[in-house]
Amino acid sequence: MKKIAVIGAGTMGNGIAHVFAQYGYAVNLIDTQSAALEKALQTIAKNLDRQVAKAVINAEDKQKTLDLITCSTILKEGVQDRDLVIEAATENSKIKLAIFSEIDSYTNDSCILASNTSSISITQLAEATKKPGNVIGMHFMNPVPVMKLVEIINGKATTTAVTESIVTLTNAIGKIPCVVKDAPGFIANRILMPMINEAVLAFEEGISDAATIDQIMKLGMAHPMGPLQLADYIGLDVCKNILEIMEDGFQNSKYKPAALLTKMVSEGKLGVKSGEGFYTYQK
Ligand code: 3HC
Repeated sequence: MKKIAVIGAGTMGNGIAHVFAQYGYAVNLIDTQSAALEKALQTIAKNLDRQVAKAVINAEDKQKTLDLITCSTILKEGVQDRDLVIEAATENSKIKLAIFSEIDSYTNDSCILASNTSSISITQLAEATKKPGNVIGMHFMNPVPVMKLVEIINGKATTTAVTESIVTLTNAIGKIPCVVKDAPGFIANRILMPMINEAVLAFEEGISDAATIDQIMKLGMAHPMGPLQLADYIGLDVCKNILEIMEDGFQNSKYKPAALLTKMVSEGKLGVKSGEGFYTYQK
């Protein structure tokens, strides 16, 4: 696999494009909004500068990486000659199902179709295509250039050959693949989101303030960020959405988002991206 397409130029999409290009893959970054593509290229350049400053890469590597990224606002044009398409669009099953159905018709039979979904069923996405054996989950973690994990999710129909190719590719971009079965929240979010939700409940009950709750998990459990700071970083709307998918998928109220989480999302307090969550941020 040499030619990759990434759909969606948001935080995850630009991070995925960054990493593939850094490791020498030609990447088409696709988004319906040209302004989003411009912003993504600026973010990638800024994150490459961080890596240059830390001597992870040199200035020449930075330029080579940027040269390997092309942008497109037209889905068909962006995916048609690709070996692998990674969808990192908005976390909405209707949108993702429509994208999978469309990219299926534009790509050849050997093209692998991956989703960076954090919790939507891979089996369901595969059913929107005529090549379900080629559909797989590649769940990257934020910030993508830094986090080592890629959670690889096999749908019911994913072939062993496709899983093996994706595992090999993941290693080739300096990441560590962990293969799991398709289930709501997979493994990463099934464990992470209840922890975040529990921290919100403890905060809501006034057991302690946000900074102390976070400090307890940072000092006591060696987490790099406390759960409330991490919720702000991920986006409170994203956390709520994933919890709801698990509540619905397992038909179990233990995943029900805390009332405070729901309230904050309805008030537009989404964390870092909105400037306010459990903490406040400079925009
Ligand atoms: N691109 C490139 N490099 C970056 C970067 C980016 N976007 N963001 C940070 N870095 C680098 C920095 O240059 C620095 O490099 P160094 O170690 O060589 O000095 C290193 O990462 C650490 O960054 P900082 O010094 O700026 O800040 P911190 O030490 O506070 O680390 C953090 C920041 C890496 C975000 C750390 O706090 C962390 O690991 N937090 C937890 C992140 C996490 O849990 N992510 C998973 C979220 S869940 C998810 O994504 C799944 C989804 O489905 C919800």
